[in-house]
This record gives sequence, structure tokens and C-alpha cells, in this order.
Amino acid sequence: MNAALIIDTAYFVAAFLFIYGLKRMSSPVTARSGIVVAGWGMVVAVVASFLYTLDVNEAARPHLATNILLAAVALGLGLGWAWWSGRRVAMTAMPQMVALYNGMGGGAAAAIAAIELYGYKTHGMVVLTLAVLGGLIGSVSLSGSLIAWAKLDGRINKTLRMPGLQAINGLFLLATAGLGVWIIANGGKIGHLEITVFFVLALLYGVMMTMPIGGADMPVVISLYNAFTGLAVGFEGYVINNPALMIAGMVVGSAGTLLTLLMAKAMNRSVSNVLFSNFGAAGDQQQGEIAGSMKPVDAGDAGINMRYASKVIIAPGYGLAVAQAQHKLYEFVKILEAADVEVKFAIHPVAGRMPGHMNVLLAEAGVPYDIIHDMEDINGEFKEADVAIVIGANDTVNPAARTNKSSPIYGMPILNVDLAKQVYVVKRGQGKGYSGVENELFFADNTNMVYGDAQKVLVAMIQAVKSLDGGGH
Ligand code: TAP
Repeated sequence: MNAALIIDTAYFVAAFLFIYGLKRMSSPVTARSGIVVAGWGMVVAVVASFLYTLDVNEAARPHLATNILLAAVALGLGLGWAWWSGRRVAMTAMPQMVALYNGMGGGAAAAIAAIELYGYKTHGMVVLTLAVLGGLIGSVSLSGSLIAWAKLDGRINKTLRMPGLQAINGLFLLATAGLGVWIIANGGKIGHLEITVFFVLALLYGVMMTMPIGGADMPVVISLYNAFTGLAVGFEGYVINNPALMIAGMVVGSAGTLLTLLMAKAMNRSVSNVLFSNFGAAGDQQQGEIAGSMKPVDAGDAGINMRYASKVIIAPGYGLAVAQAQHKLYEFVKILEAADVEVKFAIHPVAGRMPGHMNVLLAEAGVPYDIIHDMEDINGEFKEADVAIVIGANDTVNPAARTNKSSPIYGMPILNVDLAKQVYVVKRGQGKGYSGVENELFFADNTNMVYGDAQKVLVAMIQAVKSLDGGGH
């Protein structure tokens, strides 16, 4: 068998593993193994790249040793860094990590474009156009993702806003695209300076495009850059005639596009609204007064009340992840179930800080999937529930999204917890949600606040119910 055939076969296997892995990621039951399968696909693809060294031409032979060494060093650095950072990253910091890795992908695609353009290697209009497009999109994705990472990680706290910014950004894009067209029109035969300016402008555009976008919209933006990276990788795969890159790029591109659209839909916004409006700054604004008062209750009393309910729906949110209280929560659920209470989980699509955040958290605690329900499936059931307990969620249960036209979250679909007979809200204090707006649910007649860290509150609830049942009831 010759090297080319082995490489092609390996790429085919890698592409199959990527797609099969992705398929398995679509259900929480198989998601973990899906990630491992796709990871093996990556291993196969990387090994296949080294097989090219078996069949190099005379001109390239003298550089072979240096190039293999460079590739090995890059692999070692990448592996080491990913291993170290992947093991220690907190669940709550996952979106930042995704942004960073994604940016690297965009950067890698742009780097391929750079090699092609600076080396005047690319021949043919289609290939050159794709190289330039991939370079542009990959660079925007790299610098944009880095800004998104810095914002989510709290390293950049400023959201750049000034009049005319959109127009300036438009000019940036126009200049970059114009230069790209010029490169293509000249068949790629233009000076290094112009090519450098092209990449610098594309990188700057990524920065300028991301700076005005507020924190709450960052996950949508990261998902969009994810789609960009996929597209850029796919284009550059075509340029260097690498089928694994083409397939992986297109899979990432389409998955990223779908996720972006789904997230925007869950927030009831359009993608252009996310990119060009100032939603994320809503927290700075003044909100109107809310009628009613917050009524605290003791955690133990709330726990006992739930023990005597017949139906309880739990709405978890970001605070549950912060408190890492998923195991205690499931322990409490089992106690309730043992007392014949019907318990269900209601999952809002953007609860937490990343897509699927709550599902991952509950899966970690071993909560069976058949009691976990998506928002649209369970929203009709709240009115029959004796108790809805909100644990560390805020924006995703704010009725203002339904009623208050002036609220920045107006129009976002929410969990209908307020329709339950009794609502308990577990949170530490007066902290606002991600969007920074006040929540009128906390002031409602049928709502009681259970103050405290979610972990401590659940321990108290468990103790109260246990001592009750242990006490002969
Ligand atoms: P949030 O609205 O962010 O509210 C979280 C609440 O948890 C806070 O009000 C906080 O109040 C409480 N909390 C924090 N730590 C706690 C702890 N240790 N124990 C108990 N409570 C604690 O949560 P949500 O309802 O999940 O909404 C998610 C928000 O994030 C949405 O606005 C969404 O658009 C946005 N977002 C979503 C994503 C994705 S894709 N899921 C990504 C980024 C942003 P206290 O400080 O008073 O405790």
C-alpha cells in the first residue's frame, strides 16, 4: 500500500469518527463517549499528517528533520497546555475555555492561509478566493474569540460603546474585504506588505466587532465564532486539499451555526440584534419599582413543606453550579421521591453559563434523564405543581420577560415557575442575575425566599425532612 492510500484511508476513518462522535453527543446518555470517539478521530488525523513525511519530494527532503521537530514541539506544547488547563478548569469557567480553544482553531486556519498567500503557493481563482476568505474569517475568529475569552474571564470589563462605532466597524470590514478582493484580482501576486495589512485589518476587525458586545451575549458570540472557525478550517482544507480538515470544518461550521441560531432563539433575539445592539449593558440601567416584599423562610420549613407536596418542580440555574450543590440536590430529590412526591426538573435552554450547563451538572450527580425536562415540555405543568423551587436561577424565571415591555429581557421565554401554588427561591442574598435586572418573582405573593448558599440550604432541607421522617411520621 502506498502512503497516499494510507493517508486517505486514515482521513476517512477520522471523518467518520468525528461525525459518529458528534452524533453521540446529541444525548446526555452517550455524550461522554461521543467526546472520546471524536478525540480518537483527532488522534488518527494527527498521525495521518505525519504520514506525509513518508512521501516527500527531493526539494522538501532537506527540511524534513527540522519540520518534524517543529511539528513535534508544537504538538508537545499543545498537548501539555490542553492537558493541564483541561484538567483544572472549573465548570463555571468552561465557556472561556471553549472561546480560547475555538480562537486557536480560527488562528490555525488563518495560519494556513498566511503560508499560502505569503508563499505565493496558491493557484487557481477558486482556491485563492477560499484561501483569502478562510484567512479573513479565521483571523476575525481568532481575535474575536480572544476578546470574548478576556471578557468572560473578567480581564476586560469595559464594553466599548461610542456613537458611530458601527459605521467605523463597517469601514474596517470594507477595507479588509477590499484588500482581499485586490489580492484575488492580482492572482495572489502582491507584496508581503499588503498581505500583512490584510491580516492585521482582519484581526483588528475581530477586536472591534466583539468589544461593543455585552457579557450576557458572549455565549452566542462564541458560538458564532465557532461557526466561523469551522468555515475557515473547511475553506483552508480545500486549499491544501485535506479532506479531514474539510469535513471537520464543515461539521463544526454547521453545528456552530445551528447552536448560534438556537441560542439566539432561546433568548428571543435575532443574531444581528445580538451583534449590533447593546442588550448586555441593560444591567446598568435603572429599573422601575416592584410592588410587594421579599418574604424569607427557613430552609427546614421549606423542605418539610415539599415533603408533604404531591408535585414539586425544580428550576436550577447558574447558582447551583457555583455552589456545586448538584449532589446534595439529588440526595434531596431521592428523599422526596421516597415520600411519594413527584419531582421533575425544568431546564431552561440558557440556564447557567453555557449550552447544556444544567444537563451536564445533573448528569454528573446521576439524576435520571427521565425526570429532566426541557422548558417547552414542562412549562404547561407548573400550574399543577404544589411547589416550584428555584435554585440559583434568576433571569430564566423572571416574569418581567413576559409582561414588562421596557425590560431588557422582555420577550425571552422563561420557566413558568410563578404559576405554581408555592414558589421557593434559593439564593444567597440580593444578587442579580446575569442580565443585571431585578426579578419581580421574588416579590410575588406566592414566593418565599430561602437565603443561603445552595449547598447549605439543601443540607438543611435534607436534615429537616430526615429528622421528621426519622421521628416517626
Ligand atoms: P442567573 O440569572 O445568572 O442568576 C444566578 C443566581 O444565582 C443569582 O441571582 C445569584 O444570586 C444566585 N447564586 C449565585 N451563587 C449562588 C450560590 N452559591 N448559592 C445559591 N444561589 C447562588 O442564572 P440563570 O437563571 O441560570 O440565567 C442564566 C443567565 O445567564 C441568563 O441571563 C442567560 O442569558 C445568561 N447566559 C447564559 C448562557 C448559557 S448559554 N447558558 C451563557 C452566558 C450567559 P445571589 O448572588 O443572591 O446568590
